[in-house]
Amino acid sequence: EASEVFAKVSSQAALEEARVRFLGAKNGAFREIQKQLGKIDKADKPQAGQRLNEVKKALAAALQNATEALESGGAGDDTPAADPTLPGELLSLGHIHPITQTIDHLKEIMGRMGFETAEGPEVEDPWHNFVALNIPEDHPARDPLDNFYLATAGATAGEADSQLMRSQTSTVQIRVMENRQPPIRIVSLGRVYRPDDPDATHFPMFHQMEGLMIDTHVTMANLKTVLRVFANNYLGEDVQIRFRPSFFPFTEPSVEVDFLWNDQWIEFGGAGMVDPAVLTAVGYDPEAVSGFAFGLGVERLCMRRHNITDIRDLYSGDMRFLSQF
Ligand code: PHE
Repeated sequence: EASEVFAKVSSQAALEEARVRFLGAKNGAFREIQKQLGKIDKADKPQAGQRLNEVKKALAAALQNATEALESGGAGDDTPAADPTLPGELLSLGHIHPITQTIDHLKEIMGRMGFETAEGPEVEDPWHNFVALNIPEDHPARDPLDNFYLATAGATAGEADSQLMRSQTSTVQIRVMENRQPPIRIVSLGRVYRPDDPDATHFPMFHQMEGLMIDTHVTMANLKTVLRVFANNYLGEDVQIRFRPSFFPFTEPSVEVDFLWNDQWIEFGGAGMVDPAVLTAVGYDPEAVSGFAFGLGVERLCMRRHNITDIRDLYSGDMRFLSQF
């Protein structure tokens, strides 16, 4: 009887009812039979006990089968069977973020011109972010309002000992030159941090591509050629480049770099010839070697190429936006 009932079970409730009826610890059918064991002849007991064990095993197996059948969606009549005509569940697969894609692309273009990639930490000390880059103690670029200083024990924001989130990838120029001798040809792509209020073109975290080339006879003509070839590869063959005079403490002369793209001059970053003071700070001889450096905004490049109009979209985590790339 029990095997029949268990086999027909079609819902959790029915399963529980059958379990109590046959295997219930108090008044289950099996329990009732077990109680009678005391009343039978001593001589018959071993055989009866053995038989009882077999029955118990069979009941447990029936319960187990019925449970598994229910869990696997079984053939029960009040549990709907899987409907193979229903559309499947859509798995939303992530993919490489547009900025990471851009970084890989930029590395690849620069790699073809012989620029290796270098990296540096995002938490920096004032030596690499300022001092070695010819930005002295009282320079406005070190203002606590313009930088993310860390609340490290014993340090005062803006003072010589306080660490900060790097505000430019130019830090990596210093780290590379401290550890290597010319000739050097590197790019470094990474995050930088500035306390700007987010709007369509600003975000407190963004990325830069830093470039550095040091050798015995590097000139501004080399800088212009490298940047033009880069722009032609990334933005298009017809893109032109323009230098406007500017100032950075770590380059002399310094320029702003504009690309003519879709009939519009757009500024993509800064550049210049590495200042002799910087070469001296890393132990190079400014009479023996020279070099150029540049820093371009990665988001700006990516946004131009893909016609993205708001930088905040890149960091919204909104799959409807991100999955387009
Ligand atoms: N570090 C500068 C900035 O963030 C850009 C730059 C890099 C300028 C290298 C000159 C040389 O604005």
